[in-house]
Amino acid sequence: MSVERLLETLRAREQEQVLRFWDRLPEGERAQLLGQLHALDFDLLARLTRELSAAGGAPAARIEPAPVIGLPKSADDLRRERDAKNAGVEALRKGRVAAFLVAGGQGTRLGFDGPKGAFEIGPVSERTLFQLHAEKIKALRKRHKTALPWVIMTSSANDAATRRYFEKRDYHGLGAESVRFIVQENMPAVDRRGKLLLESRSSLALAPNGHGGSIKALHDSGAVAWLRGQGVDTLHYFQVDNVLVKIADPVFVGYHLQAGAEMSSKVVRKRDWKEKVGVIGYLDGKLGVIEYSDLPEEQAKAVNKDGSLRFSAGSIAIHVLDLGFVERLNAGGFRLPYHKAEKAVPCVDEQGQPVKLKPGEKNGIKFETFVFDALPQAKAAVTMEVAREEEFAPVKNAEGEDSPATARAYLMRQYARWLDAAGQKVPRDAQGEPRLRLEISPLTSDDGSGLDRLGLPPLEAGTEVLL
Ligand code: UTP
Repeated sequence: MSVERLLETLRAREQEQVLRFWDRLPEGERAQLLGQLHALDFDLLARLTRELSAAGGAPAARIEPAPVIGLPKSADDLRRERDAKNAGVEALRKGRVAAFLVAGGQGTRLGFDGPKGAFEIGPVSERTLFQLHAEKIKALRKRHKTALPWVIMTSSANDAATRRYFEKRDYHGLGAESVRFIVQENMPAVDRRGKLLLESRSSLALAPNGHGGSIKALHDSGAVAWLRGQGVDTLHYFQVDNVLVKIADPVFVGYHLQAGAEMSSKVVRKRDWKEKVGVIGYLDGKLGVIEYSDLPEEQAKAVNKDGSLRFSAGSIAIHVLDLGFVERLNAGGFRLPYHKAEKAVPCVDEQGQPVKLKPGEKNGIKFETFVFDALPQAKAAVTMEVAREEEFAPVKNAEGEDSPATARAYLMRQYARWLDAAGQKVPRDAQGEPRLRLEISPLTSDDGSGLDRLGLPPLEAGTEVLL
């Protein structure tokens, strides 16, 4: 498209303000802005900005809980779990499973300068989130003698830094050829009237299109074909910030495959009715995630006969995806809905000066897709409950809830439980917290097994133990 044509389009769409500084831009910066504008889907943008003035979609009329495979309690449950595990292990051994990490987010709440995965989380070592995941994958490859390829989704904001990180660390020993990076798309941010915002005189304010963009990126990047070429048909989806994630958990993969499911989800029991987490349930008969803001208080408080919450299946963003389902979601165009989120968007004013925002001020709207919006389109799905303390501890905030401190505490408690079970006495305080700093590399043990064979000396309070 020539500049003239582009200007015409921008005028027709009432977005010509983005060329306000054009005459004063050096050649290189013009090229950058042109590139961003050419990549824009103006029809999609027009649709989304039209919807801005419309009232939000009608809330679902009927909300019901979904069936969940609970934590095993009876001998029958344990037998079913064993069968599922065998099915999962077989799929892993046959090389049908790949790990899929989404790491394209901006990590604004953590406020760390770099990709979130490069954040050092080891309670004793400087092990990063990426290293923790990489070592889990390495351990799985060894145990199941499988290729277990790893697809990592980045975004334009952190792609180069993420690749540099892995190159510098030799892919944590996984082999560059078995790790594939894919880049998600950006969406432009707009103001409340739907006008495109400029981050600088020569750049649109762009943001990654949400973790739902992973479904599109898998397809557009050729990663689906790359995986198919290796015999993979099942993806284990996880997020970069959950330090307890059990990557490619064979029980979960097994339940998914046994049910012929297209998309499956892990959930944890909500702590109480107030916990701000989406729950998996039926919305007007379709499986999906009911956001906590959409669950009326009366429903959120409702209990079953045994006193447990009726809506308790808290979504933790761990899924298994059938590769054919990913292909279907992309056939004839990407079909996940966009959600609008009011955010603080760094931008420049009409003079090209950075707009000073008051703390907490939200000046713009970003458009995001959510991976769980694929659930209603899955022909079959499994929802499986797991124990929070074993599988879910995300790093979201710099301090307080879901922070590095809480994630490290969760890790150390898990390591302590493993050591207890291995016959090692872990010194604890009155609250039951370990009285020493503990860390176990997934390469030493990723599930507590084998620790009894290490012949460890007694553990002493106040020390650091790195295994
Ligand atoms: P969050 O929604 O927690 O976002 O992402 P975030 O970027 O980590 O942090 P904030 O909200 O800016 O503080 C959950 C997971 O989804 C990925 C993130 O990288 C993280 O693994 N994600 C999120 C993407 O890959 N792309 C996105 O566009 C958004």
